[in-house]
Amino acid sequence: MAVDGLIAAREMEEAVAPALLAHYRRHARLLPWRSPPGAPPPDPYRVWLSEIMLQQTTVAAVIPYYKRFLARWPTVEALAAAEDGDLMAAWAGLGYYARARNLLACARHVAGSLGGRFPADEAGLRALPGVGAYTAAAVAAIAFRQRSVVVDGNVERVVSRLFAVETPLPAAKPELRALAERITPDEDPGDFAQAMMDLGATICTPRNPACLACPLSGLCAARARGDPARYPLKAAKKARPTRSGTAYWVEAGEAVWLVRRPDKGLLGGMLALPTSDWLEDEMVLPQAPLTGDWRLLNQPVRHVFTHFALDLRVAMLRLKEPGDGAPLVSQLGPGQWCPVDAVDQAGLPTVFARAAQAAMEARKQENADDESA
Ligand code: ADE
Repeated sequence: MAVDGLIAAREMEEAVAPALLAHYRRHARLLPWRSPPGAPPPDPYRVWLSEIMLQQTTVAAVIPYYKRFLARWPTVEALAAAEDGDLMAAWAGLGYYARARNLLACARHVAGSLGGRFPADEAGLRALPGVGAYTAAAVAAIAFRQRSVVVDGNVERVVSRLFAVETPLPAAKPELRALAERITPDEDPGDFAQAMMDLGATICTPRNPACLACPLSGLCAARARGDPARYPLKAAKKARPTRSGTAYWVEAGEAVWLVRRPDKGLLGGMLALPTSDWLEDEMVLPQAPLTGDWRLLNQPVRHVFTHFALDLRVAMLRLKEPGDGAPLVSQLGPGQWCPVDAVDQAGLPTVFARAAQAAMEARKQENADDESA
């Protein structure tokens, strides 16, 4: 029986999927990796590729990368045959670069050992490189119509509001997963998962949720309590520390020295400017890695990583002749000369692309000053 507009728990749970799916059939976002609601599922390769790209990354940022990848590598076999450097360069700017290395490892495993076919269930998918619990569940539901429970940050927010969960995150995670399990339907689990994502991204947003447009507002305990944006509750977060360091722009004969970062660790496997260590003590000015007439640019580049923010100073050394540089740059680590006018297409990750941009502007100014002197 309905009491004050709230229906009994089980009835409420059973009402969620039909209401949400009906709404999704009319309002689903048309995204390039999706089939329309109710249509046969897309190629698992496309679902896997999109879900890896969408980890920690917005739909708007992913769309152009997804389209470029699919045009260049339309099958898992094509991706498996890609050169490591080409793939890392194509990923540049999307962040979380371990994903790109795992993407290649996974494609080579599927193409080489699994006959080009992705495993069709969560456990098989979970065993692939770079595929965690969330991605395995999403691919199983969307590509293989498995009833798996797909829980990302958006889904946690929606569920915490539907049930007015008072436990703060991250302790609430098991409880939210159990509640998500209770509302996941047997039919159309892929559409349901994507409908939950759409709801979280477009209606049940972190601030100012659009409850008037929500197909679940009549079922939502947080709305009934009058303050849906209070959910999910969150434990106080530790402040993000700031580190600082110096990137070195070393130029000779219209080319700049780029290094390949070690595979393991932050920005692993990516091309980069040589750099000092990044330390929390900003008083420590690192020693220049080779002697010369360095110029330190005024403005550091600020970039926010998951666990720290970085203030990256840019130091510039312009050697006269290519020959001057050759014996010196080996001190900066193994790498390659890149023509200065091709740096913006070299596939640098964002923080180094911005440092390079700052150096390019400074040298342009220097060149102009030299000409007018
Ligand atoms: N975020 C993660 N996976 C998604 C999907 N399939 N559609 C929209 N947003 C997503």
